Amino acid sequence: MNFFQQPLSLGALTLSNRVLLAPLAGVSDVPFRRICQELGAGLTYVEMLSAVAIHHKNKRTVDMCKRHPSEDVLGVQVTGPSPELVEQAVRILNEGSFDTIDLNMGCSVRKVIAGGAGSGILSEPERISATVRAARQATALPLSVKTRLGVSRNAISIEDTARRLAREGADMITVHGRTRDEKYGAPADREGIRRGLAAAREAAIRPLVTVGNGDLFDWASVRAMREQTACDAVMISRGALGNPWIFREVLEERTVHPTLEEWGDVVLRHLDYQEQHYGDTELAAIMARKHLLWYIKGYPCNKELGAHVGYVKRIEEGRLHIKEYLAQWPGDLVRFEGAHKTESRFGPNSKYDPKYEMHRQHDRGVGEE
Ligand SMILES: Cc1cc2nc3c(=O)[nH]c(=O)nc-3n(C[C@H](O)[C@H](O)[C@H](O)COP(=O)(O)O)c2cc1C
Repeated sequence: MNFFQQPLSLGALTLSNRVLLAPLAGVSDVPFRRICQELGAGLTYVEMLSAVAIHHKNKRTVDMCKRHPSEDVLGVQVTGPSPELVEQAVRILNEGSFDTIDLNMGCSVRKVIAGGAGSGILSEPERISATVRAARQATALPLSVKTRLGVSRNAISIEDTARRLAREGADMITVHGRTRDEKYGAPADREGIRRGLAAAREAAIRPLVTVGNGDLFDWASVRAMREQTACDAVMISRGALGNPWIFREVLEERTVHPTLEEWGDVVLRHLDYQEQHYGDTELAAIMARKHLLWYIKGYPCNKELGAHVGYVKRIEEGRLHIKEYLAQWPGDLVRFEGAHKTESRFGPNSKYDPKYEMHRQHDRGVGEE
């Protein structure tokens, strides 16, 4: 069995493999999570929720907590400005339908940091310890933390952070190999991840799962992450946008791109799930647009198709464009082969941050009350 196919114990939970989908604000809703699970993701998460919004039972936040019966395993992520608020939120989430809870200590979005949440905590080591301690008391579910290397290159704190998380009883630690100030502007630093994960392992008071994150776009980058950081698992983020086949690729440990026929099946299924979840509404279509634009990358004449799918007002409209496109090209056409090749916007040196492309109106971001 390949390394990434091996089951993984996370507290009392057993994950079917070691390739996880990150919480992705505005992206990791029920339809996308279902697709990623079907293509092999061993764990998926609800996007980051604000402890304050959970406390106020904000309707959008409650909606985001919905779980589909087909979801075998589901995590949720929360962030908050104080240990007390995080503890309260964890108590509430503990009663929800989640298998594991993650604390976000890495988000670099300005409004989140301004509220003292996300990576805003990284310059307050004592608050890091107090937050995990408080959350640990509030749940017996597997508890994890996702964090960055530090605030800036001059303030790399990952080893201290990791030790604190491990000492307070975290079951899993995910390190995104960038600092808060770098956002996406520098390649993920695998040596920094390795140091953080090693420090966590040394300080752990219980079995600890270590996870590498950052610039995982294909089997080659995942293999490099495993080799250079000795992580137990990987967490895929931008690499899954428009490419949920990345889970299959990593599990099979080889480069695989879908044929147009396989692609069409998944894209149409994603649209079905979108409609099931959001209803036959304009919102369903708006939420689908960005996925459709990501999906069409790597196929010929995708600009023309993009001009249509980027503006669909109903899911049915999206279906028709995709079906028309499928009828024009051979089913065995392989993605990224043939006529069309583009520089990946998501490549390791790309400054492109899809977060800024989200429709603000529908950005299921955090920090709202
Ligand atoms: C659209 C988008 C939304 C994100 N939302 C979250 C989130 O809700 N929680 C979180 O911990 N990280 C979030 N992230 C950060 C990613 O999980 C990940 O740490 C980061 O993108 C680095 O990995 P990558 O270089 O492979 O994309 C988000 C990233 C993107 C692009």
